[in-house]
Amino acid sequence: MEKIDNYVPRSLEDYNRLYNESITNPESFWEKIASTFTWKKKWKNVLSFDFKKPEFKWFEGGKLNISENCLDRHLIDKPNQTAILFEPNDPNEKHQEISYKELHQRVCRFSNVLKKNNIEKGDRVCLYMPMVPELAIAVLACSRIGAVHSVVFAGFSSTALAARINDADCKMLVTADGSFRGSKTIDLKSIADEALASCPSVEVSIVLKRINSNIELNDIDKWWHDEISLASNECEATGIDSEDPLFILYTSGSTGKPKGMVHSCGGYMVYSEYSFKNVFQYNKGDVYWCTADIGWITGHSYIVYGPLLSGATTVMFEGVPSFPDFGRFWEICEKHSITHFYTAPTAIRALAKHPKSFVSKYDLNSLKVLGTVGEPINEEAWNWYNEVVGKKSCPIVDTWWQTETGGIMISSIAGVTDQKPTFATKPMIGIQPVLLDNDGQEISDSNTNGILAIKYPWPSIARTIYGDRERYKKVYFTAYPGYYFPGDGAFRDDDENYRITGRVDDVVIVSGHNLGTAPIEDAINLHENVVESALVGFPHDVKGNALYAFVILKDDSKTENINTEINDLISKTIGPIAKPDKVQIVPGLPKTRSGKIMRRILRKIACGEKNNFGDISTLLNPEIVELIVKGY
Ligand code: WT7
Repeated sequence: MEKIDNYVPRSLEDYNRLYNESITNPESFWEKIASTFTWKKKWKNVLSFDFKKPEFKWFEGGKLNISENCLDRHLIDKPNQTAILFEPNDPNEKHQEISYKELHQRVCRFSNVLKKNNIEKGDRVCLYMPMVPELAIAVLACSRIGAVHSVVFAGFSSTALAARINDADCKMLVTADGSFRGSKTIDLKSIADEALASCPSVEVSIVLKRINSNIELNDIDKWWHDEISLASNECEATGIDSEDPLFILYTSGSTGKPKGMVHSCGGYMVYSEYSFKNVFQYNKGDVYWCTADIGWITGHSYIVYGPLLSGATTVMFEGVPSFPDFGRFWEICEKHSITHFYTAPTAIRALAKHPKSFVSKYDLNSLKVLGTVGEPINEEAWNWYNEVVGKKSCPIVDTWWQTETGGIMISSIAGVTDQKPTFATKPMIGIQPVLLDNDGQEISDSNTNGILAIKYPWPSIARTIYGDRERYKKVYFTAYPGYYFPGDGAFRDDDENYRITGRVDDVVIVSGHNLGTAPIEDAINLHENVVESALVGFPHDVKGNALYAFVILKDDSKTENINTEINDLISKTIGPIAKPDKVQIVPGLPKTRSGKIMRRILRKIACGEKNNFGDISTLLNPEIVELIVKGY
């Protein structure tokens, strides 16, 4: 059998050679990578696609099981190696090292629990859980039997959870009695119960005991520990068609309800392992830690699937970087001799605000590679990461990608290709980015800005939006026909390095969380005294961006508790992460003659601009601009 390591670049020459091969002959290239996995049945066709439909099929006709590739494959050569290293929220609670052998058994047991509770191939299972090993176990148990997991980040509110459960018609919810987060205990179960009151599709809910509460179970609830105690340690992995769905993961859009991105089994498996091995250059004995939550794509691809497919040791951390103090990340790095550390710019900026002694107190000599993801990293944060954490001796990989892309698209390869601060740099092997102008023409010049697009399919591209193929087509494939449009702008330098400049749509990235402005406006508008609202992002030195809400009230005299009430509504419908930093009551909003809010102007006002608004004569109500500025 071919070995994937033979295709992982170890030098710049390797990268250039493999990159060229991957674009001149993509099918034979990806066929070789795919051949390194365990398939139950070989594929008939490597790739068929049509950007117009749009439709992408990878390794069609093949049958596989990703959980088998994550676990069973490694039982021969590394049964006792740690697969998951769990570091709890409370530093005084003992950490856990779960070997591949043990993880395999625990996943099998939970797979049997799913089956016993009537979960079959294709059924959707919602996971609303803390960052504990059981979450990864539930993910792998679903994929082992072909059930489709939909992980919902445990910071979402009951309304947001219910909307996601209902959108995917989930048959089961797996949750916990609560979760620990820093000094707080979160009552996940009550949130879940509130959600389930409006989720008729859910037949069973499995509840993990995490905080040792003495809650009473409802009729549809079953304790995790009771269920697994009766289950067998063996469960054969079901053969799943390459193009069958593996999971649904929700991401915000610029309009309306969240989009349930659907990823399929074969292509996602191939790309998540290959990209993990490339970017991070993981070697035997390394201990890799990604600080994301499994509720986001970063956790799916680079805590669970990518590392486990690669037979790596992957760390799961339940807590937060500030508890018990701002040295927690570095304490964990020292404690477990972390070699690879992957986090978000917002975390770096927050930690860089505190004395360097929080870092220097710990021995970070084990670190070899640092990574960032989620938003552009500013130079100051990059330098701090490089100097204070990496002691200028660890390559930094700035990885640009999305929920929709399934895996890293543009990034340097640690120690192999060149890094450049604030630039994600070069495309991954097999990825073909281009810059487009506003008319959708490819820009060939260097040193230019443009709209970032991808011109050829890659194995882990999301296949659709669950239940809404039209929206999938409209959002990603319509504005620039023949390309995948991610919604970001980019700058390309003389050496073909890409720097991501930010969103070109109404999505704002706050502390690395992708937030659509429309759903938050909808939440604000639920307030009985609100007529209309408009939300924009503005730069924030820790969060990257913060939100600024402009709100028109019915009765201007009733403003007393308006900020708190708006914040409560947002927390309840979406989650606390979507709360604006600033709420301004305004007499009106700048509108075009067709009634569209001119967000460009509001963005400028939110940044503190007072005069330079460009041509506002086309506005229906130009006089409003001055009034809003006065109230700023
Ligand atoms: C959006 C996708 C990929 C996992 C986390 C976010 C922004 C992501 C970078 C980066 C600049 C970045 C983009 C992208 N983004 N990584 N390295 N540099 N911007 O996934 O929630 O789907 O958000 O995050 O704007 O489109 P997501």
